[in-house]
Amino acid sequence: MAIINDHFLKLQAGYLFPEINRRVNAFIQAHPEAAPRLIRCGIGDVTEPLPQAAIEAMHEAVDDLATHERFHGYGPEQGYFWLREAIAKKAYQVHGIHVEVDEIFVSDGAKCDTGNILDIFGRGNRIAVPDPVYPVYVDTNVMAGNTGEAREDGSYEGLVYLPCTPENNFVPDLPQEHVDLIYLCFPNNPTGAVASRMELLKWVEYARANHAIILYDSAYEAFIQDPDVPRSIFEIPGARDCAIEFRSFSKQGGFTGVRCGYVVIPKELNGHDADGNKVPISRLWSRRTSTKFNGASYIVQRGAAALFTLEGMAQTDVLISHYLGNAALLLNACRQAGMRVWGGENAPYVWAACPDGLDSWGLFDKMLTEANVVITPGSGFGSKGEGFFRISAFNSRENVEEVCRRIHALFAQ
Ligand code: MLT
Repeated sequence: MAIINDHFLKLQAGYLFPEINRRVNAFIQAHPEAAPRLIRCGIGDVTEPLPQAAIEAMHEAVDDLATHERFHGYGPEQGYFWLREAIAKKAYQVHGIHVEVDEIFVSDGAKCDTGNILDIFGRGNRIAVPDPVYPVYVDTNVMAGNTGEAREDGSYEGLVYLPCTPENNFVPDLPQEHVDLIYLCFPNNPTGAVASRMELLKWVEYARANHAIILYDSAYEAFIQDPDVPRSIFEIPGARDCAIEFRSFSKQGGFTGVRCGYVVIPKELNGHDADGNKVPISRLWSRRTSTKFNGASYIVQRGAAALFTLEGMAQTDVLISHYLGNAALLLNACRQAGMRVWGGENAPYVWAACPDGLDSWGLFDKMLTEANVVITPGSGFGSKGEGFFRISAFNSRENVEEVCRRIHALFAQ
């Protein structure tokens, strides 16, 4: 008899985005005439072609594989030196942030990394997650057996939820209790909020005082426009001995379908064994990586490295400006329709309070059935997301302008 990991049985319903797709497909089956009008602003999936520099680099990489001289088989599990060096220099050192090449671990994306990181932490850690939250942080902790059962409102026993509300500008306050692992995500998915230097400093000080580790997801860093907003947790003094940073090329370079990201683990960062001895976290992650992963593909890494060339960076800027232009239009349309809105300025997500006394799924249904627009219900991100919804700015300009017209028609007086 094969015994399963019965922690999986605690998971609520499906993962959020497949669940949204299920509902959208059911609607389309019942109303096939609406299918051509449907505009998807639900999952944050990019729509625009990749930067030309990445395309050319990946074409060349394929050609390399067609030769004996430039053939590549297994690469280094932690990523090719030339990509790690480009990341260290162009994503960090150029901004005055101390990150070294051997502190970077290239992967197939931040979603996998934020889930896989739990492999190297033991049971019994007290874990804090924001609410609302990117569902991966919660569900992977459920799978790992780090929680108790689900409650009525979808939250899990055993996790420490950090409420993110309009009152704290969606930047969580420090917990009143001790925690060991803290998930933070800025620019935030789903709210689009950013944290100031002072706010992050508070978290770093808390983590250091509690020997806790911050799992800092900065997958949306490329969208930061405000020069005062920190781009990396490692801009904050003291963060090198209490934080891990996750980054991704998915949103920066349109790589959601290509798959490439990376984790930064400073050498100073230690966890503790059961006897309280310090153990370098990067040693464990490196060991895990070389056992369970054979590296992101050569072709993909060549594409990612091309994003750091002069042309690549200029083309990436154009891509980011396109999505931020969409976000500005959506923000404005929701505002003009009388909604309270957040995010959308340093992030590709607009977070809005549901109008007309609707709850999150009620608003989802209204948008789907009356406007044929797919959004993400805030309650799918946690109980504190109830009463809100998220619109993704990842779309063509034409579609976004149409969504704005439909929001106006549906809600503006
Ligand atoms: C989202 O829509 O929240 C993101 O696309 C999810 C992800 O990046 O995995």
